Amino acid sequence: MFRRFVSTSTLPPTIRQLLSSPTSPSSSVQVNGWIKSVRRQKKLSFAVISDGSSAPGLQAVFVDPSLAKGLTNGASVRLTGKLVESPGAGQEHELQVDAVDVLGACDPETYPIQKQALSVDYLRDNAHLRARTDAVTAMLRVRDQTLQTLHGYLKSQGFSYTHTPILTSSDCEGAGEAFRIAPITPVSLDSPSAPPEEFFSRPSYLTVSSQLHLEALAAAISRVYTLSPCFRAERSQTNRHLAEFWMLEAEWAFTQSVDEVCQVVEGAIKEIIQRGDADMALRDTLLDISHSDRPWTRMSYAVAVSELEKYHESSTKKFAFPPAWGKTLQSEHERWLADELVRGPVFVTDYPVSLKPFYMRLNDDGKTVACFDLLIPRVGELVGGSLREERLGHLKQALDAHGLSREEYGWYLDLRKYGSAPHGGFGLGFERLIGWLSGIENVRECIPMPRWAGRMLL
Ligand code: 4AD
Repeated sequence: MFRRFVSTSTLPPTIRQLLSSPTSPSSSVQVNGWIKSVRRQKKLSFAVISDGSSAPGLQAVFVDPSLAKGLTNGASVRLTGKLVESPGAGQEHELQVDAVDVLGACDPETYPIQKQALSVDYLRDNAHLRARTDAVTAMLRVRDQTLQTLHGYLKSQGFSYTHTPILTSSDCEGAGEAFRIAPITPVSLDSPSAPPEEFFSRPSYLTVSSQLHLEALAAAISRVYTLSPCFRAERSQTNRHLAEFWMLEAEWAFTQSVDEVCQVVEGAIKEIIQRGDADMALRDTLLDISHSDRPWTRMSYAVAVSELEKYHESSTKKFAFPPAWGKTLQSEHERWLADELVRGPVFVTDYPVSLKPFYMRLNDDGKTVACFDLLIPRVGELVGGSLREERLGHLKQALDAHGLSREEYGWYLDLRKYGSAPHGGFGLGFERLIGWLSGIENVRECIPMPRWAGRMLL
């Protein structure tokens, strides 16, 4: 996938690297990390040392127990010793320690990350330290490996990785959830005594989606993607919404159909599952749906609503929001479709035009747009995508219908004026994906430092 690099680095190996190609038992190695636990016996002492590169870390054995005397949980250390085969169960190798260097002591009385299980809320309150727990380090590794696979997969499909602005002039989704930005001290562009003006001479926002900018780039280098932070002033406190989250967005020209867009999404996620390792807690249970010869279900919005209505009418368990054509699918509906009806991922396509943003391509029926949401069990919506309206006249009408100014979107209309090509793309919520793969219930535990309404600790 990637060219191999000839290593010129002099960095010492991480614990993962050391364990994947163990040195000969006669050579001395140095291991850097933090103490996870210490067990003292009369003749021997044991400690687990971790540098976060792999779970659960490395068992260190102190034949001379005095060496382990000053060790406490959380202390950062450099251990020198020999990597030998372990006679104990649970690990193939262990470090026989000859020397201990405590680099940073850790007061066991006040250290907030104790060995006993800590509540989610307690860890959120200690967001600067919670990466030291096994669950959060595993999540960080899953983020990393998922990203590496996405890069490799999209590269194999001919995509270029690119960057789009965080500061934007439009609310791409038109949902009114964009954060408006202003300097701390209002500036006047002309004279200090004049009333403050917009810093950029017009209202500006933190991006809610990179899509519109990606479209401009796809109109030149055909296939592009980016992973960008996105910001939404989302006030509802749910387990799948953050104010700052990461979105993988891809956009490409000359695409044929919504189904082609779905295939790229499906191919990427299947690859992620197949390449996942033990850190991805639910990988084994998801392997079944990762086979390329079994496509995931596709279902139109109309069919999905009719299934929901049938269930709502016949079942004793009613939805809180009765489903009907033309209404938004609520998260209870999305979950029922993926968890109960399909029992797996499902692409719901062709939503009513009134429910979707202005940029989606109008279908020939004049009522629906060429789009999809990928719904997955336990989570609901993971990905949203569509063909984009490439016809200038239709796009102008869509802007009008959404009350958006043709002037403001002049640059976006230009893309249709000059060599417009059929194109499409998608956006995948990175934290929701990590939660699904790892069996983590709340996206707040799928990002290192979560932000949500009313909450920004550091
Ligand atoms: O469905 P959305 O709003 O789609 C877009 O923004 C498109 N412009 C993307 C595109 O086609 N390039 O968001 C896409 C995905 C959702 O399916 C969801 O997984 C995630 O982004 N998402 C959020 N994740 C966490 N917190 C939030 N507040 C989110 N809002 C959306």
